[in-house]
Amino acid sequence: MAYLASQRQGIPQMAKITYIEHNGTRHEVDVKTGMTVMEGARDNGIPGIDADCGGACACSTCHVYVDPGWVDRLPAKDPMEEDMLDFAYEPDPDRSRLTCQLKVTDDLDGLVVQMPEKQI
Ligand code: FES
Repeated sequence: MAYLASQRQGIPQMAKITYIEHNGTRHEVDVKTGMTVMEGARDNGIPGIDADCGGACACSTCHVYVDPGWVDRLPAKDPMEEDMLDFAYEPDPDRSRLTCQLKVTDDLDGLVVQMPEKQI
């Protein structure tokens, strides 16, 4: 109900996303729907996601490991993301995603991602 009311009023919807640095530091932030998971990290000053290409799916430095409970709840990778993940640091065939390719929706509320040891 609150969702519908806020939508009518043009208030942006938010999804809670937890970013976990490689050292275990957790950052739980609200990210506006319509943004990407990468933009949520960047705009909240969360370290560990470099996003060198600015979200053009051309660098792989926005790589994360998705929490196992979320892997099947995300939209499938498109071929460009699959190809670019080959250049990421220690990609995991099941859990690795490029955060610039993950659009935040209500369905992503509660998403947990973990950053790799480094971005390359
Ligand atoms: S920001 Fe470069 S691939 Fe995601």
